[in-house]
Amino acid sequence: MTEPELQPVKRVMEPGFDVVTGAFSFTGRAIALRLLAEERRVRTLTNHPDRPGHEEVQVDIAPLQFADRAALVESLRGADTLYNTYWVRFRHAKLSFGDAIANTRTLVGAAVEAGVYYAGKARTEDIVRGSGLRWAIVRPTLVFGNGDILINNIAWLLRRMPVFLIPGLGGYRVQPVAIEDVAEIAVWAAEQSDNVTVDAAGPDTVTYGELVEGISIAVARRPRFVLTSPRLTLWAGKIVQWRMRDVMLTKEELEGLMEELLVSHEKPRGTRRIDNWLLTNAETLGRTYASELERHWR
Ligand SMILES: NC(=O)c1ccc[n+]([C@@H]2O[C@H](COP(=O)([O-])OP(=O)(O)OC[C@H]3O[C@@H](n4cnc5c(N)ncnc54)[C@H](OP(=O)(O)O)[C@@H]3O)[C@@H](O)[C@H]2O)c1
Repeated sequence: MTEPELQPVKRVMEPGFDVVTGAFSFTGRAIALRLLAEERRVRTLTNHPDRPGHEEVQVDIAPLQFADRAALVESLRGADTLYNTYWVRFRHAKLSFGDAIANTRTLVGAAVEAGVYYAGKARTEDIVRGSGLRWAIVRPTLVFGNGDILINNIAWLLRRMPVFLIPGLGGYRVQPVAIEDVAEIAVWAAEQSDNVTVDAAGPDTVTYGELVEGISIAVARRPRFVLTSPRLTLWAGKIVQWRMRDVMLTKEELEGLMEELLVSHEKPRGTRRIDNWLLTNAETLGRTYASELERHWR
């Protein structure tokens, strides 16, 4: 991946603001909106400041870049809390998971130097725990909401394909959580005096088959459902992703789904129900394909 062009931080903010990564993307956007509703001032670190809808999120902007640590420290200086959503979904264009871990280390290190509090979900939780910062880790399950990729693309497939493949028997469970709930839980977690690690999960646990059925009812399309092997599902997914020039679903994501990693063992903190959201958003859901590569790499 080519390094993003470095830009200076647009303006020096008075102390007493929060930094959120990706305020024009998915989780970061919901967290930024939640903080703005609480009249917090927010700066975002992002490489995509011009995404559609960016004008609805009134935040100061600085680049999410890891090559110039001093600039990163400056963009964090004076911040009360860093909400970090940074992670890459898959290896691509020379960026490995190892690079993403190193980038997280740089970001957390810059936050330490700038003296901020750290909150947010982290795969790289050990870096956070070992940083010496006060921290909170929020672990979402399967997130739904405007701007999501996975559920949107299931709807997109259901709308277009004569056949929909379900890996295995579709009996493995998921516990979807609304993006607004994730944001509320992240802001709540950041306010706790103790360091906390919490799941962000919704009120309903359903099987994957039931989830697909619910999406199918919402979009009023019912292709033939075919139970098949994970391998064949991934292979069929590859044809779609070749056509769409994207990575639609990785082997690791499918394994996580089938191993029920998207189910929490804690009392659910989210309250919003996916059925309601599907019905309210039925008209727009899956009308266009949501491309991860388009969103973050191009
Ligand atoms: N979405 C879900 O359903 C879900 C479920 C469970 C856990 N999570 C976790 O929640 C966190 C946020 O997920 P999200 O879906 O909300 O992410 P996102 O908004 O799509 O991206 C979050 C941040 O990471 C940056 N980023 C993503 N891919 C990148 C790449 N290839 N190169 C450079 N920067 C990249 C984005 O940069 P820009 O600001 O420049 O776009 C953004 O600042 C992640 O840790 C994820 O693993 C998500």
